[in-house]
Amino acid sequence: MNDSFWQAAYIIAALCVVLSIKWLNSPVTARRGVRAGEFGMLLAVVGTLLRHEVVSFEWIAIAFVAGAAVGAPLAYLMPMTSVPQLTALSHAFGALAAALVGSAEYYTDVAAGHPTTGFKMVALVIESLLGYLTTTASVMAFGKLQEIVPTRPMTYKGQNVINLLLFAVAGVLGVWMITEPTPPWVFPAFTGLSLLFGILLIMPIGGGDMPTVIALLNSYAGAACAAMGFALENRLLIIAGALNASSGFILSVIMCKAMNRSFTNVLFGAFGAATTTTAAQASTKPVHSASAEDAAAILESARRVIVVPGYGMAVAQAQHKLRELTDILNKRGVQVDFAIHPVAGRMPGHMNVLLAEADIPYDKLHEMEDINPDFAEADVALVIGANDVVNPAARHDKTSPIYGMPILDVDKAHTVMVIKRSMNPGFAGIDNELYYNDKTLMLFGDAKGFLGEIVKALAANK
Ligand code: TAP
Repeated sequence: MNDSFWQAAYIIAALCVVLSIKWLNSPVTARRGVRAGEFGMLLAVVGTLLRHEVVSFEWIAIAFVAGAAVGAPLAYLMPMTSVPQLTALSHAFGALAAALVGSAEYYTDVAAGHPTTGFKMVALVIESLLGYLTTTASVMAFGKLQEIVPTRPMTYKGQNVINLLLFAVAGVLGVWMITEPTPPWVFPAFTGLSLLFGILLIMPIGGGDMPTVIALLNSYAGAACAAMGFALENRLLIIAGALNASSGFILSVIMCKAMNRSFTNVLFGAFGAATTTTAAQASTKPVHSASAEDAAAILESARRVIVVPGYGMAVAQAQHKLRELTDILNKRGVQVDFAIHPVAGRMPGHMNVLLAEADIPYDKLHEMEDINPDFAEADVALVIGANDVVNPAARHDKTSPIYGMPILDVDKAHTVMVIKRSMNPGFAGIDNELYYNDKTLMLFGDAKGFLGEIVKALAANK
């Protein structure tokens, strides 16, 4: 009875994971996707607890309480802007779990002299290598995002060669373990090298590239879990791990494409090391600035407004004020749409999540390729805390670090208004020529505060 129950639970859990990923594809079905994922995970856990291999529930209960004691406060207390850090930490825990299971299997099975197939050894080696390196790499990624570790790329001469050599030595030890019984020092040395490689892998990467790297680490953690599935002959782990590995990989490819960067550039390019524009340098050129009252008057007389949210909107948590402004403008007959750049903010879907939180209808959100032709017909492009994703230099300046990155063509609108606090650069650390354009009005201030002032001015004009 138990056997058929857990097998059925595993099949349904695997189905839920597949459906969850499919539904997470669109904001309309995303909530359903989260529920399906949660239900699938619950079934997987219950199914596993019912397996006859479970000898005692005490240790499982202790692990459950310890995990919940760490996980629940993390989920509740981390602000939305720290989701990339939280994701990095959860990858570290997942990868460590896979690696520890690999070590336990090695010592209880292989090192104890029980006969082991070559296939299982291959799976154990891959699981441990990827598991341990992903653990330290994810902790480093967390440290960089949280600014506990220096965020700038840490580079030195011959770094890539040293890293490759280290990885090659770990690989040789792994092959040795697969092909014949090894002395007792080999597995700990292999583990140590994998852990060290994870740290060295992240050192030369700038903090700003961490979200892309985290998607890649998600892929590694998934591959480690799939390998664990092969080692333990657990189909659910193989399916979930493979899905995790492929979706993480696809996501990192999409992110690289949206930034017009290659994988090698993200992993070895030390992006962010170059000298960047400072606020003082940028502010020497003249710009046109305007008050909230001026902005309110322009918005009120517009027929069509396209809003471009960016990282600054997330920092200011300005989405609810933006919703208020949208409602007022809609009531006065102004059409308001939202243009979403694929890498606006600091994580995939960042803007979609914030706007959904403020109940802005999904059908008002448009992807870059769909909305770009509309800017030429828009009276106002209202840029809120976005910078790099609207920098026209990406289209024509071959010397710019963001050259070739697809951008939102806000400079084609009749009037451009930009809400930000200063002339400071964004993530790429470069000046933005949009701010010096004659049709651009700079609205200096915190996004939430400034939007609040525009709303007040509009209410006063009733
Ligand atoms: P950024 O280019 O980073 O610019 C954000 C701007 O927001 C800054 O210039 C900042 O100017 C302003 N800001 C910050 N706090 C603010 C506040 N409280 N109120 C108003 N403005 C505020 O953002 P973006 O245009 O969204 O571009 C995203 C960048 O991140 C791209 O370069 C992209 O490649 C990179 N990136 C994205 C991702 C993903 S997946 N989204 C992953 C990795 C890297 P002030 O300081 O003057 O206010």
